[in-house]
Amino acid sequence: MIVFAFANQKGGVGKTTSAVTLADGLARLNRRTLLVDLDPQGHLALSFGLEKSPGLYRLVCLDEPLVEVAQSVRPNLDLVAGDKQTEKVKRQITLSDFRETILRDLLTESDYDVVLLDMAPSLDVLHINGLIAADWVVIPTRLDALAVDGVKEILTTMAEIQRNGHSYRGYSILPTFFDRTTRETLIQFEEITRVFGSNVWPPVPQDTRVRETAAYGQTLWEYSPDSSSVEGFVDGRQHLGGYRQVLGKMLEVIDG
Ligand SMILES: Nc1ncnc2c1ncn2[C@@H]1O[C@H](COP(=O)(O)OP(=O)(O)O)[C@@H](O)[C@H]1O
Ligand SMILES: [Mg+2]
Repeated sequence: MIVFAFANQKGGVGKTTSAVTLADGLARLNRRTLLVDLDPQGHLALSFGLEKSPGLYRLVCLDEPLVEVAQSVRPNLDLVAGDKQTEKVKRQITLSDFRETILRDLLTESDYDVVLLDMAPSLDVLHINGLIAADWVVIPTRLDALAVDGVKEILTTMAEIQRNGHSYRGYSILPTFFDRTTRETLIQFEEITRVFGSNVWPPVPQDTRVRETAAYGQTLWEYSPDSSSVEGFVDGRQHLGGYRQVLGKMLEVIDG
């Protein structure tokens, strides 16, 4: 099993969209996949056309087993949903004896191939728990002037966690809302690639279909698999970026 955390302390950068799209992409390739919502906003359930529910709360605070809490949302894809009650999980963690590793301990007993954690834009105990449960951290970021700084903040937190004995297999930066007609996007993409090199994954284009898809409670593979966010920009015969390429990168990590 490998655990990916989708983290960035900024909101609206594409964490939830990327987690949903890549999780369903992996499930469609027959990987047994689990998505966990660590955000009290509970958007993961909505992304699949379901009501929010206190899945994480039941798992951590009520001690219910993962097999009972996880809902099957698509073939090969289960979800531990979240809602406002996730706030109570933070209190429970703070009071616990094993507070740093609660989440990791709960996940290691499971038999999924891949787990994706959709993190809240915060830096609280639950966020730290997610980063400690993770083998690989994916950092979705918009390409604006603060992008490099935001990425560095997550890397600093990861470095602290590593000093306390946890080790990561690696991390990736996922540029989102890529708009190749905007100078700022291109400048920042160059900058982020200069600083982080091969840790930068192919960018996901800005695409109006993404919002529509989420509103219909469907994934991009279901609603608009031909859209640019999935297929990237088509330049002659070449596809540049898009979730299909990103999924390929993720498989390299999983199988590598
Ligand atoms: N590539 C994209 N192009 C256009 N809109 C997007 C894209 N990715 C995400 N969105 C939209 O932007 C909003 C924020 O994305 P979301 O994934 O919820 O970010 P986060 O989880 O980081 O807060 C959502 O309404 C989502 O549908
Ligand atoms: Mg989110």
